[in-house]
Amino acid sequence: MKRLNLLLIAMLVLAATSSGWAFDQVKFAVISDPHISLPQQKGVTDGFKMGLQTRTLTEATVAELNRIPDLQFVLVAGDLTQDAEPWNVDEVRRLLDQLNVPYFVTLGNHDLSRVPHEQKDQPVTLSKYTVAGAFLGRSGGMEPGMTYYAHEVAPGLVLVNLDSSRPQVYSPEAKLNDFGGAIDPAQLRWLEKTLRAHQGKTIMVMVHHSLVAWSPGEKTGHNHWNWFQLDNAREVQALLKKYGVKVVFNGHRHISTRAQIVDGIVNLIHPSLVTYPMRYTIYEMTPRELSYVVKDVPASPEIWEQAKKHFLATTWWRDADQPNTPEGNRRYLEFYESPSTLTARIALP
Ligand SMILES: [Fe+2]
Ligand SMILES: [Fe+2]
Repeated sequence: MKRLNLLLIAMLVLAATSSGWAFDQVKFAVISDPHISLPQQKGVTDGFKMGLQTRTLTEATVAELNRIPDLQFVLVAGDLTQDAEPWNVDEVRRLLDQLNVPYFVTLGNHDLSRVPHEQKDQPVTLSKYTVAGAFLGRSGGMEPGMTYYAHEVAPGLVLVNLDSSRPQVYSPEAKLNDFGGAIDPAQLRWLEKTLRAHQGKTIMVMVHHSLVAWSPGEKTGHNHWNWFQLDNAREVQALLKKYGVKVVFNGHRHISTRAQIVDGIVNLIHPSLVTYPMRYTIYEMTPRELSYVVKDVPASPEIWEQAKKHFLATTWWRDADQPNTPEGNRRYLEFYESPSTLTARIALP
């Protein structure tokens, strides 16, 4: 009998360590690109980004998330603010602090504070610590002096949050500062060390810029859309593959949620809360499967109508096969609304 008990205990210990005390199921939300801009600021308007509505749209989404009884945490996939103005940083933290559950933020290309200067054709000087400092220690996230972190969000489930923001270089050809991103060498070293330390657990990564292209124009550099992907996407992808990362969550692209499996990694892209089609995503995940449902941001019919009107008036956001013609508009709307991917169930590799 004693021997049988010992055997049973040994089997239980073995099962527990091999599964890493794995989580059964988690439910969480991904919101992205709220671009908070206080309406009092000079120059803030409703356009492609519904600037005057950013607070209201984000607050309404937070209230809706708070009504989901079994939600466990929220991921915020970057571009939290207009351009990391201190007043907008305070406001986005105030809004996110209204969540009833822990939340985890990542920095986007718009979360760098610009230093105003007169020479419009020169690189802009930037600081990323206005945003990072505001979220120090929130939900076990940012640590002092760091803009990236890892956190075990459930037993055996690790969220690795990368910072792809980098100085924006002025491009004379595009006549604008780029909106690209990269994972710098120090962060890559930290990433490898972190992935190695968590081997055997389910690892998911959040990073504002994508590892993969979502549209033909991103491959050809149409309108400089190559800046939607990390400069060193291949290097990061190889590292994530090496350590068996299962899922990557992105923002930045402002298209409705969809998935793309590359090299055994499920890449998921997310819509903005404040550009048409304004949406957020609810996930359920087990160690073997991921499913999601995409929801509209709560807003009045008038706001939806305005957002769509501004979206249709935007030429820069259109790929080469989406001109402002009836057929081009149909393709443009279908691509960004993505009606066939409002729900999905994906087996984890
Ligand atoms: Fe954005
Ligand atoms: Fe962005």
